[in-house]
Amino acid sequence: MKPVFDQPIGILGLGVCVPDRILSNADLEKMVDTSDEWIVSRTGIRERRILAPGQTPRDIAIPAARRAIEDSGLSPSDIDAVIYCSYTPDLLMPSSSTGMQHALGIPSCIAIDQNSACSGFVFGLQTAWSMVRAGLVKHPLLVGADFNSRVTDYTDRNTCVLFGDGAGAVVLGAVPEGRGILGHCSGCDGGGGPLITLKVGGAGNPVTPENVHSPDRFMRMNGREVYKFAVHAINDALERAAVDAGIPISEMELLVPHQANERIIRSAMEKFGLREDQVVINMDKYGNTSAASIPLALDTARTEGRLKVGTTCGIVAFGAGLTFGATILRW
Ligand code: UT7
Repeated sequence: MKPVFDQPIGILGLGVCVPDRILSNADLEKMVDTSDEWIVSRTGIRERRILAPGQTPRDIAIPAARRAIEDSGLSPSDIDAVIYCSYTPDLLMPSSSTGMQHALGIPSCIAIDQNSACSGFVFGLQTAWSMVRAGLVKHPLLVGADFNSRVTDYTDRNTCVLFGDGAGAVVLGAVPEGRGILGHCSGCDGGGGPLITLKVGGAGNPVTPENVHSPDRFMRMNGREVYKFAVHAINDALERAAVDAGIPISEMELLVPHQANERIIRSAMEKFGLREDQVVINMDKYGNTSAASIPLALDTARTEGRLKVGTTCGIVAFGAGLTFGATILRW
């Protein structure tokens, strides 16, 4: 057994990709009984990207991963693990992580698919970090990718206005002293499982001629109850991650939250006394992209010059399960 790796571990490279096709609030006004005013005031979302017919998740996830590897300064031959977080993989089998390994020319390595819905990227980051820390691997590729449009009921105004498609990826590895991942928190309350579901297609409820057209083949959500959970969960997760990191939460310079609802994010801003420039909000352009939401927000922050070497940031997510998690890191 290799010894525990005790250097700081952080993100070496980041890459994202979204589909070209835009679904705007005006488009949705023609599809369901909703309005741009309702969607913007209740959620902060103005448009989202969705896969075109004939496109597959691979078309977006592979470029995101390729960009992350390039950004890290490594080559595919340096990658020694693939962790693919999604609840909407290309296929149920074979796994998407093995597909990524092959498509990107990564040598034989451990390949893991994780399904933690909107908490996917944070849970995946913790998995990847643990594997490096344990001395199992050096440079894991972590992909967060979801294609909500493929499981969204575009006759259900409660869900169809919220979700979009996208992919983001990072490569982890050793970073200089003073940088990298400082602390984590994660958890779940499986009792809240019925609040967000996709019931048809698993081995417990395989597709049949009877259910193939039922509403249960789409994602269903009790938005109001998830909202209450989320407001509490993100504050709690960030506070606990800061304790694990051994820093006061006031040292967090940038909050990179899951992009589900702007009002949920604003409740955290209020709680922690954060200014507008300290919080990343890009859901106006992408909606809720589930496991891709955090890497897309990291990319937005970096592009805007708000995420620089040495910036202490908190990432936090919550979602189906119910799950929640936060990580404090110094970029
Ligand atoms: O990624 C993690 C998973 N998801 C989430 O984080 C979502 C968390 N929840 C939310 O973001 C919010 O609960 C929603 C955006 C889903 C809903 O906002 P809300 O302020 O909680 O609205 P509501 O469900 O309490 O509904 C208020 C009203 C209802 O009408 P009545 O009963 O008051 O007449 C809804 O039928 O708004 C109606 N409504 C809409 N109206 C126009 C619901 N969806 C729409 C819509 N357009 N798209």
